[in-house]
Amino acid sequence: MQAYANLFRLLTNALVEQQAVLNTSTPKQMYEPMAYTIGLGGKRVRPLLTLIACDLFNANPQSAVKAALAVELFHNFSLIHDDILDNAPLRRGSATVHEKWNRNIALLSGDGMMVKAFDVLSECDTTHLKAMLKLFSKTGIEVCEGQQFDMNYETLEHVSVEEYLNMITFKTAVLLGCSLQMGAICANASLQDQIHLYEFGKHVGIAFQILDDVLDVYATNDKFGKQVGGDIISNKKTFLLLKAFELAVPSQKETLNCLLNNKNISNPDKVLQVTAFYDSLDIKELANREANIHTETALKHLMEVEADQTKKENLKQFAFDLLKRHT
Ligand code: IPE
Ligand code: IPE
Ligand code: MG
Ligand code: MG
Ligand code: MG
Repeated sequence: MQAYANLFRLLTNALVEQQAVLNTSTPKQMYEPMAYTIGLGGKRVRPLLTLIACDLFNANPQSAVKAALAVELFHNFSLIHDDILDNAPLRRGSATVHEKWNRNIALLSGDGMMVKAFDVLSECDTTHLKAMLKLFSKTGIEVCEGQQFDMNYETLEHVSVEEYLNMITFKTAVLLGCSLQMGAICANASLQDQIHLYEFGKHVGIAFQILDDVLDVYATNDKFGKQVGGDIISNKKTFLLLKAFELAVPSQKETLNCLLNNKNISNPDKVLQVTAFYDSLDIKELANREANIHTETALKHLMEVEADQTKKENLKQFAFDLLKRHT
C-alpha cells in the first residue's frame, strides 16, 4: 500500500540486515533455515502493523523497529513449527524447513528463532521494555496454547464454534493484536488506545484465520504458496468443517464422518469429496459472512482510537486489503 511504502522500506532493510547476521552465524545447520525462512518473505503484515501503530501516534517508526523484528521472528518460528505439526510440505511457495532439511533441524532452528525474537526485543528502549516483554511473552504462550487446541481438535469429534473461535484467537489473532499494541507502546499511546488497537488487531486476526481456512480449500492462485487441501487431509476442525457438520442432515453427517475416518481413501480424493460437500452447503459464503462480522467488530475498536483520521482510514484500508487477498 502506497501510504506505507516508507514503513515497508524501513522494515525490509531491518530484515535484510537480520538475515545477513543469520546467514553468517554458526552452526550453519541451525541458522541457515532461519535465514531461508525469512528470505522467503511472506506478507510481513505483523511487523508492518507494529510500525503503522507507532506512526499512528506520530512517533518516529524507527523506535519500533526492534519490536517489529521481534514480532516477525516469532511469527517465522511459529510457522516452522506449525509446518511440522501440520505435516505441511510447502510454505511461501517453497519446501518447508522440515522437508528441505529434517525435523530435528526444524525444531532447533525454530527454537533458536524464538529466542532470537526475545533477544532483539531486549534491545528496545528501556522505558518500554517491561511492558513489551510482558505483552510479548503472554502472546507467545497463548499462540502455543492455541496450537495445542488445534492439535487436540484434529481427533476430537465435537468441537463447538465457540471453541474454534477461542482456538484461532489464540493461535493467530492475539499476535496481530500484540503487533499493534507493541507499536502503540513505543509511541507512548494511552492504555485505552493501546487496548482498542489490540482488540482491532485481534478481530482482524480472527477474520484473517477464518479466511485462511477458506483459502486452504479454495485457493487457486500460486501466491497462496501452501498445499491446497492440507486442512482437509489432516481433519482440521476449521470453520468450514464445523459449519458443514452443523448444517448436514444425519445421513450427510454420516457421509462426512466416513470421509474423515476412511484410511483407504487417497488424499486427492478426500480433498475433492470434502470440497464438493462444502460446495453443496454453500459453506464458503457462510465463512465469508462470519469473517465480516469480526471485521465489523474490529472497525468499531479502531473508531475508538484517538488518532489522526486520515491515518486511521489508511489502517482500515490496509486491513481490508489484507482480508481481500483471501477472496
Ligand atoms: C500464516 O500467516 C499463518 C496464519 C496465521 C494463517 P501469514 O499468511 O501472515 O503468513 P506469511 O507471513 O504472509 O507467509
Ligand atoms: C497457523 O494456523 C497458526 C500459527 C502458525 C501459529 P495454520 O496452520 O492454519 O497456518 P498455515 O495455513 O499453515 O499458514
Ligand atoms: Mg499450518
Ligand atoms: Mg496449523
Ligand atoms: Mg491455514
